[in-house]
Amino acid sequence: MTTLADKNVLLGVTGGIAAYKTPELVRRLRDAGASVRVVMTPGAQAFISPLTLQAVSGHRVHADLLDAEAEAGMGHIELARWADELVIAPATAHAIARLAHGFADDLLATLVLATEARIWVAPAMNRVMWASRPVLDNCQRLQTLGMRLLGPASGSQACGEVGEGRMLEPDEIVAALGDHPRPFLGHRFVVTAGPTHEALDPVRFLGNRSSGRMGFAVAEALAAAGADVDLVAGPVNLTTPPGVTRCDVLTARDMHREVMARIEGATGFIGVAAVADYRPDSVAEHKIKKSEGELALRLVPNPDILADVARHSARPALVMGFAAETRDLANAARDKLARKQLDLIAANLVGEGLAFDCADNALEVFSATGHWSLPEQPKAPLARALVEIMVDCMASKGG
Ligand code: C5P
Repeated sequence: MTTLADKNVLLGVTGGIAAYKTPELVRRLRDAGASVRVVMTPGAQAFISPLTLQAVSGHRVHADLLDAEAEAGMGHIELARWADELVIAPATAHAIARLAHGFADDLLATLVLATEARIWVAPAMNRVMWASRPVLDNCQRLQTLGMRLLGPASGSQACGEVGEGRMLEPDEIVAALGDHPRPFLGHRFVVTAGPTHEALDPVRFLGNRSSGRMGFAVAEALAAAGADVDLVAGPVNLTTPPGVTRCDVLTARDMHREVMARIEGATGFIGVAAVADYRPDSVAEHKIKKSEGELALRLVPNPDILADVARHSARPALVMGFAAETRDLANAARDKLARKQLDLIAANLVGEGLAFDCADNALEVFSATGHWSLPEQPKAPLARALVEIMVDCMASKGG
């Protein structure tokens, strides 16, 4: 059975002896239905020839970040976008250290930073190296960055020793990629995203800088985890992620109404939208004219969607909010968690060049008893890390 049909798999080969197994890995990936392209580090080319991997993948191997000819074909950004899955196999201790610290001085490391694909890392090294503190710390960091570790396995090693550190066999790597856990299968989630626009007159509104990208990424990650997702989106310029049902709204009151209409029977509500806390108390029928002197706006509070969902008689089992703060992040987030009766809150600092309208974000997530720090990364892997926290949170509630 083909488990990777229509998947684009980018294979990153680094310089370890297990590189000799990668032609077999490419063959198995293609047998499973994937299109495969290969990136090699200079170290990998000491173990295996690019020509071999070109022959088995059917494509020229990518090796150099500064190769003008390759960039004119499928350049590194295009390659990063092309990939659905990026598999680094074998991943040496050195490669793992570089990935953990965000290096961008060769093609593979740059692709890791530039892609929104899922990233899989198959370590391969001597057993003592594998057990060393720096390698274990770096692997842990890879996991907090949303990368998935494949193995390593135990057994006899190329160096003649026996222990943990062998690269997983090609079959095992292919099986792991094809095996998508769907922890939220059969569950429905309501997600809000984007800003709201609160009209002042027929042409003006009060709004904010939210792009909606974080909310859309959360909706996409929940759908990938098997959930049915209702996305209630403010005015944004984004395409609907696959498997997500979208409802567009403009104002906080519209968003409140559409969320409440969908909350019954939902397992979770994730309020990512930057909802306006206030709206003008009236909307001028005609465009407000300029006049001498000051113009005072009178604002009235909007309904708090998140708090209303959390207090609803049909409260979902998981209610999660977001908190955009300009200071005192942890205290403000914990206070909001308690005040709005939430299960989880994801907090970030906002301001010039931070979070809003940016491709990357960093989040501190709090529950009543837990705290997770998710370092700065693109919003897609960040959203997948959030979904894993949601899964843990539901499991600890016994749901
Ligand atoms: O209290 P604050 O507005 O900072 O809380 C932010 C969280 O509350 C976000 O999850 C946001 O989606 C939600 N919210 C809401 N309705 C409002 C205001 C905020 O759902 N009127």
